[in-house]
Amino acid sequence: MRINPSILNCDFSDLKGELHKIRNADWAHVDVMDNHFVPNLTMGLPIVEAIIEVSEIPIDTHLMIEDPDRWAPQYAEAGAKSVTFHAEAAAAPLRLARELRSMGVRAGLGLKPATPIEPYLDILDEFDMILIMTVEPGFGGQSFIHSMMPKVSRTREAIDKHGLDVWVQVDGGVSRDTIEIAADAGADTFVAGSAVYKAEDAYAEVDHLRSLVLGHTH
Ligand code: DX5
Ligand code: ZN
Repeated sequence: MRINPSILNCDFSDLKGELHKIRNADWAHVDVMDNHFVPNLTMGLPIVEAIIEVSEIPIDTHLMIEDPDRWAPQYAEAGAKSVTFHAEAAAAPLRLARELRSMGVRAGLGLKPATPIEPYLDILDEFDMILIMTVEPGFGGQSFIHSMMPKVSRTREAIDKHGLDVWVQVDGGVSRDTIEIAADAGADTFVAGSAVYKAEDAYAEVDHLRSLVLGHTH
């Protein structure tokens, strides 16, 4: 079970301080957006490199970008320990996942809400994590899409059936109100952006979210 706060809605003028607040989390989730794959622009490699440099916990990069086949390996090279690219954007997802793994990082496959898991069920072992979006990617602060829970459950069932060690991450609208629902459906890795950074005490909120999930793991 992992709590991965998204820094998307933190104070970007103080990244070091904002990262320090979540030092009790498992990973820091960093959303890279290119204004093409999603209608928003966040940061690219130089800023991610700076984040990796100052973070006290490992970095989970979520690439919401076109042409990840070309760009994703650079995030691995920069020192991100987990690199997730989107199924909808990759020309050759298997080749890319294998390339990332050969660089010693965890390879994640991201699915937008309308993208089914079924085409990937036979190749789950090629990935270290499946990221199931619970909002349309692009912005923090949106509401959790409950109808994604069957997809989470089907993914979890397939992983367990084959005895695989693949993490199931939910991302978008995860908060005190929704985290247990996602855990019950089979998620084990939870991204929470605004729930953590809009809380009065981000550190305490990470602990609180973790305490809610404990006891709900499958
Ligand atoms: C959305 C991002 C998420 C999101 C998380 O495109 O991938 O990481 O911003 O933020 P909240 O928890 O506020 O939905
Ligand atoms: Zn994300």
